[in-house]
Amino acid sequence: RTLDDAGDLRGKRVLVRVDVNVPMKDGVVTDTTRIDRVAPTIVELADKGAKVGLLAHFERPKGKRVPEMSLEPVSRAIADVLGRPVAFVDDCVGTEAEAALRDLGDGGIVLFENTRFHPGEETNDAGFAADLAKLGDIYVNDAFSAAHRAHASTEALAHLLPAYAGRAMQQELEALDRALGNAEHPIVAVVGGAKVSTKIDLLANLVRKVDALVIGGGMANTFLAAKGVHVGKSLCEHDLKDTANKIMAEAADAGTAIVLPVDVVVAQEFKANAPHETVGLDQVPDDGMILDAGPKTVELIAGWLDEAKTLVWNGPLGAFELTPFDAATVAAAKHAAELTRSGRLLSVAGGGDTVTALNHAGVAGDFSYISTAGGAFLEWLEGKPLPGVEALSRKS
Ligand code: 3PG
Repeated sequence: RTLDDAGDLRGKRVLVRVDVNVPMKDGVVTDTTRIDRVAPTIVELADKGAKVGLLAHFERPKGKRVPEMSLEPVSRAIADVLGRPVAFVDDCVGTEAEAALRDLGDGGIVLFENTRFHPGEETNDAGFAADLAKLGDIYVNDAFSAAHRAHASTEALAHLLPAYAGRAMQQELEALDRALGNAEHPIVAVVGGAKVSTKIDLLANLVRKVDALVIGGGMANTFLAAKGVHVGKSLCEHDLKDTANKIMAEAADAGTAIVLPVDVVVAQEFKANAPHETVGLDQVPDDGMILDAGPKTVELIAGWLDEAKTLVWNGPLGAFELTPFDAATVAAAKHAAELTRSGRLLSVAGGGDTVTALNHAGVAGDFSYISTAGGAFLEWLEGKPLPGVEALSRKS
């Protein structure tokens, strides 16, 4: 159920779970993307006359009050983004918190202190959730990026109050559904990043869902090594070669193409502008490190993208943070962006470094949808149920 189903909200105390776990330096928020995403929900609720109480976590204080992890500076950033006052209360449960929302004028907004200052948040404690529930009449979850956590403010609370998905949550779920749930084939997944070990479940799920799985970054080295390619000093998880072979066998069974580098850029040092050369797979020197995919690989990926209707992207294709080893990531991202702009491709990206990499390529704005989620996006790609989303769908 979405905000369209929530009825008349005037004077109602609405608890909105947001994810404003934003980057901060010296007490100042340095990137407001996550705040920008939840702003429409907050504004809509306030404009409908609700008393809006924002619940959120910040970093990982592990159940203790850690002053550096206070949400107070974030309340100022939210106020700046909204162009409206946002009050701050230095606890998220108790009489002061309850009074703050009750006594707020219709359309007012208050942010409560970090839910993770209470141990009951992360243990999904029923008593703590009941204390949170005392604050509001209605619960709205707009925090997809925290939905992989079964925490009191993301899970238990949804069973205690009438619960709805906020606009950002709704948009995210719709985009993800279009990308993998009810996607148009052919679907290409681009999965990069350093290590296979962090993405085994994801690869195992994707091989059964997509038509082509492009594997890049350090992870590709493990797959190449599993196929007998000599990878020199490259980052490679030799102990996972069997796993890589298993994934390739599953792909063959499912009729999914596995797209690996056919040429690579090697250097002897892991640093920007290190002397480098592009070589074939049979030419990686003993003391060489693969730091990027080569131009023939980019062409190959571009060819798959040209055929695709849907793209799901997670992780860079090389050491994109070090010039010029960002070349393959940038070129493939630009190609995907161009296809998206021309209406030929639906492209969804998310997780960890991905958004940074696409921003670096200057094309994040051209993708059909960019998820602000890290862990939640990965768990969704792994096909796991997300407790925060499940709790919204289940009748309590
Ligand atoms: C995130 O930044 O991905 C979310 O806010 C979740 O944070 P967590 O990994 O600390 O639960």
